[in-house]
Amino acid sequence: MANSKYEYVKSFELEDQVMFPNLIVVRIDGHFLKFMSLRSDEAALGLMNSCSAAVLEEYPDFIFAYGFSDEYSKILSLVASFFAATYVTKWKEFYPQRKLECAPSFTSKVVTCASTEVLQVYLAWRQQDCHAKKNQYENCFWMLVKSGKTISETQEILKDTQKQQKNELLFQKFGINYKTLPVLFRQGSCLFKTKVEETIKHDENGNPVKRLRRKAVLVHSENIAARTFWNENPSLCNDIGHSTNDIGKIEPDLARSFEFENKLLPLTWVVVRIDGCHFHRFSDVHEFEKPNDEKALKLMNSCAVAVLEEFQDIQFAYGVSDEYSFVLKKESELYKRQSSQIISAIASLFTSTYVIKWRDFFPHKELKYPPSFDGRAVCYPTYKILLDYLAWRQVDCHINNQYNTCFWMLVKSGKNKTQSQDYLKGTQTREKNELLSRQFGIEYNSLPIIFRMGSSVFRLKEAAAVENGVVSGKKLKLEGEVVVDHCNIIERCFWEEHPHILSYS
Ligand code: GTP
Ligand code: MG
Repeated sequence: MANSKYEYVKSFELEDQVMFPNLIVVRIDGHFLKFMSLRSDEAALGLMNSCSAAVLEEYPDFIFAYGFSDEYSKILSLVASFFAATYVTKWKEFYPQRKLECAPSFTSKVVTCASTEVLQVYLAWRQQDCHAKKNQYENCFWMLVKSGKTISETQEILKDTQKQQKNELLFQKFGINYKTLPVLFRQGSCLFKTKVEETIKHDENGNPVKRLRRKAVLVHSENIAARTFWNENPSLCNDIGHSTNDIGKIEPDLARSFEFENKLLPLTWVVVRIDGCHFHRFSDVHEFEKPNDEKALKLMNSCAVAVLEEFQDIQFAYGVSDEYSFVLKKESELYKRQSSQIISAIASLFTSTYVIKWRDFFPHKELKYPPSFDGRAVCYPTYKILLDYLAWRQVDCHINNQYNTCFWMLVKSGKNKTQSQDYLKGTQTREKNELLSRQFGIEYNSLPIIFRMGSSVFRLKEAAAVENGVVSGKKLKLEGEVVVDHCNIIERCFWEEHPHILSYS
């Protein structure tokens, strides 16, 4: 297909790679402020474990997971997205009586470990946090609050207390022996793959046919970094390697290195582009209309609206097909500009919203499996290059849409897919328009605007009447409200007429 003059913006998309043979850890962290009442709740932890098991099943390269509270150690945006979708899908299993009040989002980051030993230190560090920072502190905190203390009084009491003092406080004041609390809370949970025999079918005589399958098993252990724990589990030794040492004191420098985060260049325009993973298959399985399914596109748009409503720093979003680009304001300090956090939070919120809203757009179609979206963040140094980036995406929308419309019309008219491809090879815009018009009686410009222009999402400067995504019509939207429109963002006059959308100082 033809290239446009905007293609040069691709050179801003820098590649990143983790050097082989590092062990890659992806740590996931939930944004659960809105779910505060799920704290230390067995069902909540069970739900997290179940989502982690699903990740291990979905991605064969993931072999081990450790988690406590709302955190999970594993591989970035895709995992966060898949995790969020699974979380929504499985919610009912764990909370049959309770409505999921809002779409969950997860941030994730990659930690690379150069050896098994470094991985052991990492795990020891996480388990130490589970035990001391999270569980012991939280138990004391909430018991004190329940006993009538205010939040600030409680914080003052617990300030600088040592492990032993917290245990004593729990025992003496509340009769709780910390050691008897469920292991799930004290130790966190591990998941790793072991070979299990499973019946896959029965033969003609009714005898079970068994196969060895790798399946995620849930394990609790006092010390997941211990040599004994590691070496006693053959699958861990096989997949990751033997452990030769026990981990003593955790070097603060090493622990600090686990916290390292890549930051996006300050005062640049950051665009986070998410893209549906294997959407070709997803669209087939869910029988989306070809080449464009209006309901599927509107579902994508409503997810983008939810993302703009959640993140005030996102000023504009543009979506086409299975992708969406989100533009952060130049001065944004969202997640201190830590790229992995920004990408994963957006991708996971978008995905969980997709699953939650599926029914609103497809009331008669079952969601067969949750989708996932990968994400990337790219910095653009100037306003002009940012607008060129957006123009590039809209030109792509146009080129693809025109090609796909011709392609599927040819297929519907009886040509096979190869014949249709050959027929369209080397054709220019004008020729394709003529083909549509002469052979199929379709005026390209009369196709729905959402297909031709893609969708733009932004906040309104002032109250306006909006109907079916077009700013004009009946339904009144208020100032600052997030709206979807299908404008021409290639033309610079659009940006000149709406300077508030991408405002910057
Ligand atoms: P990866 O992104 O590399 O994982 O592959 P992908 O299968 O998602 O392909 P890509 O992102 O390049 O393109 C998106 C694909 O989603 C299209 O090729 C279509 O197959 C499908 N798709 C997106 N929107 C629609 C739609 O409205 N209708 C139909 N039928 N398919 C769509
Ligand atoms: Mg895709």
